[in-house]
Amino acid sequence: MSAMAPMAASERGTASGAGRHSNDAYDRIAAYWNEHIHDLSVATQPAGSRGFFEELDAYRFDKLRYLPKLVDFGAFGGQSLLEVGCGVGIDLARFAGGGARVTGIDLAATSIELARTNLSQRGLTGELSVMNGEQMSFADSQFDMVYAHGALQYTADAARMAAEIHRVLKPGGTAIMMVYNRRSWLRFMSKTMGVGLEHEDSPFLRLFTRREFRSVLAPFRNVRIVPERFPVATKLHRGVKAVLYNGVFVGVFNLLPRPLVRWSGWHLMAFATK
Ligand SMILES: C[S@@+](CC[C@H](N)C(=O)[O-])C[C@H]1O[C@@H](n2cnc3c(N)ncnc32)[C@H](O)[C@@H]1O
Repeated sequence: MSAMAPMAASERGTASGAGRHSNDAYDRIAAYWNEHIHDLSVATQPAGSRGFFEELDAYRFDKLRYLPKLVDFGAFGGQSLLEVGCGVGIDLARFAGGGARVTGIDLAATSIELARTNLSQRGLTGELSVMNGEQMSFADSQFDMVYAHGALQYTADAARMAAEIHRVLKPGGTAIMMVYNRRSWLRFMSKTMGVGLEHEDSPFLRLFTRREFRSVLAPFRNVRIVPERFPVATKLHRGVKAVLYNGVFVGVFNLLPRPLVRWSGWHLMAFATK
């Protein structure tokens, strides 16, 4: 969480039809994410250095402890895997390290350049391109698996991106996607403590109920949604609010039986089949 200015109401994501947004919308998304690379603020090492990527990986997998439990990064050996909105390629490198033939796309050229460096520094290979996930240049049914963690909520038209993910996935293939839960403990805390959501100032940010997420995923079959991402101590914030949050809220919340609070997980992880 970080304190940021609220968006104009007209720019908050809403249900929208394909093609509703002009090219300018995608230029603004690219411009924003070129400047605000995800998790960049936690890095102390120079961007693009080996230490930089190691720091981002360690930070991400400490914050998202659930991720390697739900996603087996080593299970796609030999398969073609596309990540939409790959950022600097932290997860993509894990898939590539597990033997997947990876392709990563993102609207932000800076991220794609860093993702390229990330893979090559680890001795891994992959195809990386600046491309709009709502209008991909890939053939139908090209990939065994498509992954989009934290991308659908930041694009102009989530339904259009989901339809594209479905189009490029092979029949029988799996897509794994994550969006933010509108009915989450984190949203509640953000409002109660007056601390804005991360990247709340991005050109588009849409929060979803489970039902809304399912409706965006209508082209898929066997959609399973798992709410995850429960409180862990923040390293991004300082001061009294952070002390209270880290010292009291995180501990008390995690004493609650998980089945009782699962509905409030901040990340709605979807596993869907074409
Ligand atoms: C919160 S970051 C997530 C990055 C990475 N997946 C991660 O989890 O660290 C959101 C990413 O989605 C990308 N993005 C947003 N809209 C996109 C679109 N229409 N096509 C491709 N990438 C997009 C942004 O450029 C940004 O890199």
